[in-house]
Parts: sequence; C-alpha cells; structure tokens
Amino acid sequence: MSELGSVTWPPVPIKTERLVLRARLARDREAYIGLLASPEVHAYLGGARPREEVEREVPGIPETRSGRFVVELDGELIGHILLTKETGYLPQAAGKAELGYLFLPEAWGRGYAAEACRAVLDWFAGELPGEPVVLATQTANVPSMRLAAKLGFAEVERFEAYGAEQWFGMWNPGAPGDPGITVQ
Ligand SMILES: CC(C)(COP(=O)(O)OP(=O)(O)OC[C@H]1O[C@@H](n2cnc3c(N)ncnc32)[C@H](O)[C@@H]1OP(=O)(O)O)[C@@H](O)C(=O)NCCC(=O)NCCS
Repeated sequence: MSELGSVTWPPVPIKTERLVLRARLARDREAYIGLLASPEVHAYLGGARPREEVEREVPGIPETRSGRFVVELDGELIGHILLTKETGYLPQAAGKAELGYLFLPEAWGRGYAAEACRAVLDWFAGELPGEPVVLATQTANVPSMRLAAKLGFAEVERFEAYGAEQWFGMWNPGAPGDPGITVQ
C-alpha cells in the first residue's frame, strides 16, 4: 500500500465530540494487535491471522506512513481507520484514496465509527481538496454497508471477489450525502 500523497503527517490530533484521531504510538501496540487478530473484526475480511503471527509483524515503534489513524476513546485505542492510495484492483480505484475501517467489537453500535470516519474524510478534504475517496466492502457486511451509506458513499458497482459479492462506492467532497461535518 502506498503513501497517501502530499499530506501533513503525523497530523495534529483531531478531536471530535467523543474521540481523538491521531497517528499510532508505541503504547497502542497491544490493543492494535488485538484488533488485527480479532476473528469477529475479520469475519468479512478473509478471517483473522493467528495472534503470534500478528505480534511478530507489528513493530514496537509504529510505522509512520500517512493516512493511518488510531481512534482513541478515553485514552484507549478502539479502532483504526486507513486512507491509502490503492494500486488498482479495479480501474475506477486506480490512484484514488481508499477508506478502510476496523473497530473493536466492544465499540460497535455506538456511532463511533461514523463519527471517526466523518472526521477523517473532513481531514482528507482539507488536505487534498476535491479528491474523491473510494471504498470496497462485502455486501454481506451489513454494518459496513450501513456505515458507507451514512458517510455519503455512492454505489459505483458490485463485483465478485474472494468468493463473495463486493460493493464498490465513491465519496466526493461536497456531493449530496456528504454531511460536511465540522471537526472541532
Ligand atoms: C464496520 C464497522 C466499523 C461499523 O461499526 P458500527 O459501530 O456498526 O458503525 P457506526 O459507528 O455507524 O454505529 C452504528 C450504530 O450505532 C448506533 N448509535 C448508538 N449511539 C449512537 C450515537 N451516540 N451516535 C450515533 N450513532 C449511535 C447507531 O444507531 C448505529 O446504528 P444503525 O447503523 O443501525 O443506525 C464495524 O462493524 C467493524 O469494525 N467491523 C469489522 C471490520 C470491517 O468489517 N470493516 C469493513 C472493512 S471495509
């Protein structure tokens, strides 16, 4: 996965009503490993890898690649949001920023993912004005499909991959559906 482009990184931590979004720090390691090794989190992402394997791969000092946000609630990591420039598994995705999101199961169903993703999209629109963001998710992943719709992603197409139907959507800053949330 490539760098996002000419953005300021690490970012000034973004504060929303309930959350803080920031670059990953060494103290996030345990919770981050728990997120990557969670079978529930990876139910629609091809399954989780064994914890020992994830532990070997996650460095003690975090990578500094742009567009990777830790979502913090009361000082603890509850999720991870990624904006990466896709290398093009679909022609429409080539060269565009792609949004991905992973939250710990105990943080689901409280609107944290929507609050955090809106803030990240708002940040992105400020850093790279006018650039669209794309997103792909399994159609069977109902919470993810609902989140994509809430964030204002519009369907571009559906396709089959990894033995399942995938939904591919696009978000354009300022388009209808973009809530245009203001980050505090
Ligand atoms: C996809 C995922 C991030 C969605 O998380 P989520 O918590 O369901 O998403 P939201 O933040 O939108 O919150 C959803 C619910 O919180 C409820 N909620 C409770 N309190 C709320 C509040 N104060 N404000 C807003 N919503 C609130 C909402 O009603 C909403 O339910 P609805 O969608 O039925 O209306 C989560 O399921 C996940 O991490 N899954 C595993 C990883 C994954 O599959 N990622 C997709 C890769 S592309």
